[in-house]
Amino acid sequence: MSKAASIPHHIAIVMDGNGRWATRRFMPRVAGHKRGVDSLRRCVKACVARGVGVLTVFAFSSENWNRPADEVSGLMELMFGALASEVPSLSSEGVQLHFVGERANLSEKITAGLRQAEAQTAQNTRLVLNVCFNYGGRWDIAQAARRLAERGEPITEAAIGPVLALAHVPDPDLFIRTGGEQRLSNFLLWQSAYAELFFSEQLWPDFDEAALDEAIAVYQRRERRFGKTSDQVKVQAQAVGTHGRRTA
Ligand code: IPE
Ligand code: IPE
Ligand code: MG
Repeated sequence: MSKAASIPHHIAIVMDGNGRWATRRFMPRVAGHKRGVDSLRRCVKACVARGVGVLTVFAFSSENWNRPADEVSGLMELMFGALASEVPSLSSEGVQLHFVGERANLSEKITAGLRQAEAQTAQNTRLVLNVCFNYGGRWDIAQAARRLAERGEPITEAAIGPVLALAHVPDPDLFIRTGGEQRLSNFLLWQSAYAELFFSEQLWPDFDEAALDEAIAVYQRRERRFGKTSDQVKVQAQAVGTHGRRTA
């Protein structure tokens, strides 16, 4: 595959900038998170329309517990409310939901809701939506290693993949971070080894269809080499007679 000319199959997004969006409008930070849910709804629809297969979003990190207690409880309430308000329409659009992250320190009220949403959407096939909640890339690698150790299996690269929290989807092709920061903040550390990175200055509530299309267009101009030379990649693409997995 020379240029990544196709629509990325798997897009991962660090939905950052909700707090600043609200603060600039003299609103409480939680109001920014609410607008973040609206932006996610719009983004999911846009991904479905463009034929993206998997969307993985960072909603709450292992480190976000360190925020002020009222913001943390506001985010938990928002997640609980979103389960009730969003899941029926997501399901009717063909979205299969997965919640990825540590559940042990979430309330029973939330974990029951997560389980129910997953069960309710399990048969859907248009888009897999992974919501990373109480997630950290380091947590994921550690839990994978622990599982292998418990089974007495050797800890190899090939063995780690299937026990990671995102084993049900291929690795992300395009990794987007909104909000202007250029860092990973513990998101998909293992899985992003060969993702194309795209950093947007836009705050997450402002990230609309045009912004998504720009990220996809930038992705399509990149040459993904996976360690090979550019010449090798071009020869390989000619042999296949295609420039990527164009599906639309
Ligand atoms: C991202 O927005 C959402 C969460 C981390 C839950 P932020 O809340 O980090 O927004 P900024 O970065 O403070 O603007
Ligand atoms: C990353 O954003 C986590 C989510 C978007 C859920 P943060 O705002 O927590 O990241 P840092 O603290 O700026 O690195
Ligand atoms: Mg932030």
